[in-house]
Amino acid sequence: MPAHWPCGKEKGRKPMHVKNNIFLIGFMGAGKSTIARYLHRKYGMEWLEMDKEIERKQGMPISEIFRLKGEEYFRELETELLLSLEEKEHTVVSCGGGVPLRSCNVEAMKKSGIIVFLTARPETILERVKDSHDRPLLEGHKDVEYIAELLAGRQKKYEAAAEFLAATDGRSAEEIGEEIYRHVGEIGEKQA
Ligand code: S3P
Repeated sequence: MPAHWPCGKEKGRKPMHVKNNIFLIGFMGAGKSTIARYLHRKYGMEWLEMDKEIERKQGMPISEIFRLKGEEYFRELETELLLSLEEKEHTVVSCGGGVPLRSCNVEAMKKSGIIVFLTARPETILERVKDSHDRPLLEGHKDVEYIAELLAGRQKKYEAAAEFLAATDGRSAEEIGEEIYRHVGEIGEKQA
């Protein structure tokens, strides 16, 4: 049975036959959850928040998984979760910031959807994450220099993984969400 795009609330657009999931990647605080929520509400896409799903399955917060089992264990959980999403359709996945660092994760995402890289300047990221304490990699490092360095080390992998890049600095969720949805629709039309 072909998958159709869009099949949510939005009517009157051409259906898309393949790749109808969207994987949002990018650094912590890039706005992945915000944009995923927008696409969920506006277009009725199923919304999967990787961190929340992992927390639900493990019965503890990410910070506890890092503390008790270590980062490598958490990375295995991310890969396991991605591989289990093969059958998903019309789903927007808000990925953890480290997901594109493993090539097997990127392969798994490419098989079932379009990867969109949300970018943000280190200053913007700091502003967005400064008051939260649920990201173990940033605890004790809430400064622009640290964020810029970690981001620089990941940038190439984010760019290599993504088919589409959307800047988020100073833009509303609506602007970004519409840009992504339009772009994904265009890809679908070319493939149909
Ligand atoms: C991480 C990002 C976090 C979370 C974990 C590790 C990372 O998710 O998966 O703390 O390595 O960048 P968000 O990007 O949703 O904050």
